[in-house]
Amino acid sequence: MGPLRSKPSLLWLVAVVLTARASKAAAKSKLIDYGSACDSRDNELSLRSSSTPSPDGPEPGDLAEAFSVPTLDGEFSYQPGSARGPLVVHAFSNKSAFLECMWSSESSLISLVEELPNSTHVLFLSLDESAASDALWMREQLQRVAVLRNKEVLSRLHFSPVPVFALGNWIPNVLYYWRGRVFSQVVFKSEGWKMPIVVKRLNARYDWLAARGESRSYQLLGAGDGCEPSPSVAGALAWVSEGNCSFFTKVQSMAQSNASGVLVHALPGHPIQDMNCGGDDCNATLTIPAAMVHLEASVAQALECGQTVFASFQNTPSPTFFIGIDHQGALAEMGGFIYPSFSFVNWQAQWFDFYADLQTKLQSPAKVISVFDKVQMQGEEGAVATVHLPIALWDFDTLQLDASLSCPGRRDSSCAHWDHTVQLFVCCDPLGPYCNTELGRWITAFRRGTGRWLTDVSPLMPLLDSNKCTLTMKTPPWAMPWMVSLNLRFSLSNRTDSEVEMLRPFRVMPLYGGGTFNKNYNKRHRPVKVSVPASTKKVELYAVITAHGYDENHCGEFCVTSHHFLINGVFNNTLTFDSAGTPLDCTLRVKEGAVPNEYGTWLYGRAGWCDGLQVDPWRTDVTKQLNMSQFESNTVVYFGLFQGKDPNPSKEPGKQQRRPRRRRLLFGQGPRSDAALRHGSG
Ligand SMILES: *[C@@H]1O[C@H](CO)[C@@H](O)[C@H](O)[C@H]1NC(C)=O
Ligand SMILES: *[C@@H]1O[C@H](CO)[C@@H](O)[C@H](O)[C@H]1NC(C)=O
Ligand SMILES: *[C@@H]1O[C@H](CO)[C@@H](O)[C@H](O)[C@H]1NC(C)=O
Ligand SMILES: *[C@@H]1O[C@H](CO)[C@@H](O)[C@H](O)[C@H]1NC(C)=O
Ligand SMILES: *[C@@H]1O[C@H](CO)[C@@H](O)[C@H](O)[C@H]1NC(C)=O
Ligand SMILES: *[C@@H]1O[C@H](CO)[C@@H](O)[C@H](O)[C@H]1NC(C)=O
Ligand SMILES: *[C@@H]1O[C@H](CO)[C@@H](O)[C@H](O)[C@H]1NC(C)=O
Ligand SMILES: *[C@@H]1O[C@H](CO)[C@@H](O)[C@H](O)[C@H]1NC(C)=O
Repeated sequence: MGPLRSKPSLLWLVAVVLTARASKAAAKSKLIDYGSACDSRDNELSLRSSSTPSPDGPEPGDLAEAFSVPTLDGEFSYQPGSARGPLVVHAFSNKSAFLECMWSSESSLISLVEELPNSTHVLFLSLDESAASDALWMREQLQRVAVLRNKEVLSRLHFSPVPVFALGNWIPNVLYYWRGRVFSQVVFKSEGWKMPIVVKRLNARYDWLAARGESRSYQLLGAGDGCEPSPSVAGALAWVSEGNCSFFTKVQSMAQSNASGVLVHALPGHPIQDMNCGGDDCNATLTIPAAMVHLEASVAQALECGQTVFASFQNTPSPTFFIGIDHQGALAEMGGFIYPSFSFVNWQAQWFDFYADLQTKLQSPAKVISVFDKVQMQGEEGAVATVHLPIALWDFDTLQLDASLSCPGRRDSSCAHWDHTVQLFVCCDPLGPYCNTELGRWITAFRRGTGRWLTDVSPLMPLLDSNKCTLTMKTPPWAMPWMVSLNLRFSLSNRTDSEVEMLRPFRVMPLYGGGTFNKNYNKRHRPVKVSVPASTKKVELYAVITAHGYDENHCGEFCVTSHHFLINGVFNNTLTFDSAGTPLDCTLRVKEGAVPNEYGTWLYGRAGWCDGLQVDPWRTDVTKQLNMSQFESNTVVYFGLFQGKDPNPSKEPGKQQRRPRRRRLLFGQGPRSDAALRHGSG
């Protein structure tokens, strides 16, 4: 758990962008050539490394070799370049309580059947000697739910009866070499036994119950169904049965009894379940660890006979349970599965689809200026490069940022922690009004190195007010390093309709920067006068707003805020972050490129952003709200509201250390830049 800094703040760029009919005079006068030679390479980003396998086996990004395996429905064979969609390979083991739960939970099975992307096939394997019966069982589990919901999916699910250790191809090597997962276990010891008893366990959901059992020895004491406090378990690990009350009630009553932790055992014949809270129970803070195991007869018997039983928690490294092969045939890690559900398979497969679409988009014609090619971004300096732009900037009306973040190594385990803000600043004319204005913003993917995003920032083209520009990409200086790649893509939108006039942005007028979201927030934002040249055809309001940190209302990150730009006292342009704090809203953005299966709380909706995604600029046409008379000024007022009112956190912002319930998984949020862009106003 890292230190949590929590100053609620909003970070943004707001600009009024003016566009006008193409008129050469307007732009060229500002293009100053400083004349010095500079790198301006046209090479494409090389995200994939060569397919030469490293000595110990293929790494993520290497091309998957051909293989075939016997399945219950004949041979399954994979041929590189056969242009099918992605393939997910899952290796089951009943030694994992996590996988047992994933395969027993109805909602998990339904999610695979109903939401596996149509492009994707899944090959199911088993790591255990019981592979033949496991394959039949897995097929039966999925057939049962698919028959009622979506039979089509069954043709894309393949079950192999051959254990992984007997496959004889490269798959076992990758599963064991990539590793990264664990078998979570409980070890029981008692004086009368010759050997300790080791059983699989599933920890309670992390975002409900963050405490984790330790490897030290706990005394185990029975407490019935655990639905009522039981003072005798004080200081011990409570052994309670499933049923009669919720998991929440059990853990709460054992915590009230001062137990050191809780082991809930499944009723005979029942599967291990995902212990979680529901409704208002999730608000209560519980600080003892809890996990679920099967009923172990000798443990129950020893306790009944009054023998002393000790228990400890242990994790044994396991092979990885999931690998992917994307549309291009490259091997891929599948990321972190935060709770036992096939939804995580679906999200990764959705991302493979997104990535294939992105590859297609990147084939469209454009003048590409390479700015960074896997350049390290770290520290106060960030990544810096100076580039030459095409001389005829005015020939283009579209500017896209093609940005990606990769890690120092080839595995996700080498990637930086936390979801930090990344900002791209540009300075072309060092004496001009736009030097070091923000051109793009992204949020890093928590320990995943696959993010690549295409962001349209065409309205900001006037920031490129010279043909030699210095670009700086930065994340908080204390963050671990990322390797950044960035291409500027200049193109012409392909309007075929000759009626539509080609408009080009010719001026950007900075309006507001962000700041701490407290009771003085709106006082700090003064009305701004804007005059618009008479020849202007179109005016857009352009805003990049993200809220970070949290106070007692979970503002700004997880509270719903609204942002209003009142123009000429009449026109109320509103942006509301409705999905902030919702449990799954950022999973809905995977199709737009949000990196799935991160190791943080990437699933929750946030105010204006998601982990592992670009921040899309908010654009509104405000032409009709403005008076175009040269001499008349227009007024813009901005205010940000929480529940329709000025923010007014009761606690001093920046002093909050509390974890909001149900908001954080795994590690909580990292500290984040709360610096605001400051622009001259007006
Ligand atoms: C998995 O193990 C549990 C007990 O550990 C058992 O009840 C269950 O039948 C097993 N499932 C399969 C598919 O073997
Ligand atoms: C898969 O295709 C079917 C019909 O072809 C469609 O109804 C369904 O929504 C698609 N599912 C997904 C997840 O794309
Ligand atoms: C549930 O409560 C009943 C009545 O108190 C008790 O007899 C039964 O053993 C309890 N069930 C379990 C699983 O502990
Ligand atoms: C739990 O511990 C607290 C503080 O030591 C004590 O006041 C309380 O009586 C204990 N509760 C039980 C059920 O032992
Ligand atoms: C629990 O939290 C939710 C959302 O923050 C809130 O609406 C609800 O009133 C809370 N319930 C209790 C009992 O505090
Ligand atoms: C160009 O226009 C065609 C047809 O309207 C459209 O399908 C295509 O996506 C457009 N290309 C770009 C780069 O906008
Ligand atoms: C713009 O301002 C001028 C001067 O105040 C006024 O005469 C004119 O009616 C205004 N035009 C519009 C469209 O509001
Ligand atoms: C703008 O709209 C929001 C809600 O849509 C409202 O709360 C706010 O008071 C409005 N402001 C003005 C000045 O009309």
